[in-house]
Amino acid sequence: MTSQPQPVDTAPARRPLFADWLAHSNDVTSVFLAAGQNPDLVNLAGGLPEPALWPVEELAELAAEAVRNHPTETLAYGPIPGLPALRDLIAQRFSAPGLELSRDNVLITTAGMQALELVGKVLLEPGATIAAQSPAYLGALDAWMPRAPRYRPMRIGADGFDPHRALAGAQFAYTVPNFSNPSGRLVTLAERHALVEAAHDTGTWLVEDDPYGVLYYDGNPLPRMLTLSAARAPGRYDGPVVYMGSLSKELTPGLRLGWVIAAPEMIAALATAKQGSDMCSSGLSQMLALGAFRRRIPERILPQMLATYRERRDALCDALQTHLAGHLDWQRPAGGMFVWARARDPRLDSDRLLHRALAQGVCISPSSVFDPEGLDRGAMRLNFTLNPPDRLEEGVRRLAAAIHATLEEG
Ligand SMILES: Cc1ncc(COP(=O)(O)O)c(C=O)c1O
Repeated sequence: MTSQPQPVDTAPARRPLFADWLAHSNDVTSVFLAAGQNPDLVNLAGGLPEPALWPVEELAELAAEAVRNHPTETLAYGPIPGLPALRDLIAQRFSAPGLELSRDNVLITTAGMQALELVGKVLLEPGATIAAQSPAYLGALDAWMPRAPRYRPMRIGADGFDPHRALAGAQFAYTVPNFSNPSGRLVTLAERHALVEAAHDTGTWLVEDDPYGVLYYDGNPLPRMLTLSAARAPGRYDGPVVYMGSLSKELTPGLRLGWVIAAPEMIAALATAKQGSDMCSSGLSQMLALGAFRRRIPERILPQMLATYRERRDALCDALQTHLAGHLDWQRPAGGMFVWARARDPRLDSDRLLHRALAQGVCISPSSVFDPEGLDRGAMRLNFTLNPPDRLEEGVRRLAAAIHATLEEG
């Protein structure tokens, strides 16, 4: 018996659908990427450091030395939680009177973004609650979006804010106490104490995300919530604060090098999650971080960084005062990278303004992307670290033109 030839199905095979959460992501990133093609654009939207501050020669020396003399640590797969020497160094660097840390308290991560993602992986079931400082860092919202959490906004410092009520029943609370991204706000010492007390009393994990902790332009650094928490339970740290640090702002972002300091049980859980993410952070980056800390490079470049960014912060705020005092309210931040400006006229929608601003040659971050619900359209985040003072002034001039045009449109 001869078999009949089977008809060939020429219709293209249907591919499986993308996961649901992708439909909820915002399109601002693609707007920014497209805007980046315009060489004359004044970018006030990003959170980028000034590349001229990077210690390129010293890092090149350290990289060559690491590859030649430490090929295993640099080029092989490494231990999941990080190179032991770097974990020890971070433990030592962050130990303080009353805060006892060992290697088991430290996880090396592929910068701060991975730390955020791993916390989501180990703590969130779909629908779980995050008590998040409001407005919230867009990268954190992006990192947790696939886990479909619910958000309970924390307006720290607002009348009636009650940390115990905010934290009770949440899987974790998320804060950026030093010069929050996007608001630039510094969480006061009293507010830090109150959040730490609430975390201890309710048992809720308290995430302290701290990439801007060295960028104080005015005044002395406030104590970390990690340190305040340790004072409540002496001995090796085992408390509820999950502290996140990163080299992105104090050295260079391209190393993708960060760390988590937390109770050993949290570090072990995060390491299990990290195994399924990237197995280990780059050995070359870890060796560069180790070398940079040993040579005290972050401490040496800090004074120049602070002087540069302080001047730029003042230039941006002065330009806002000159060109936009009648339209926007803002506060001069005491550190960090951002000014948060709110429109006085409720008709000024910053999503719409973004498109007008791009047409004028300036890019801003609209407030909707820092709101888990996407509803706040009355404010914007302005970055001052990337551009020199004259470009900041030009950017604000263009922004003023865009604001006038948007208001005239009605
Ligand atoms: C509050 C906050 N957390 C985390 C990050 C992540 O930074 P990185 O992954 O470069 O360490 C940023 C970056 O801008 C940030 O502003």
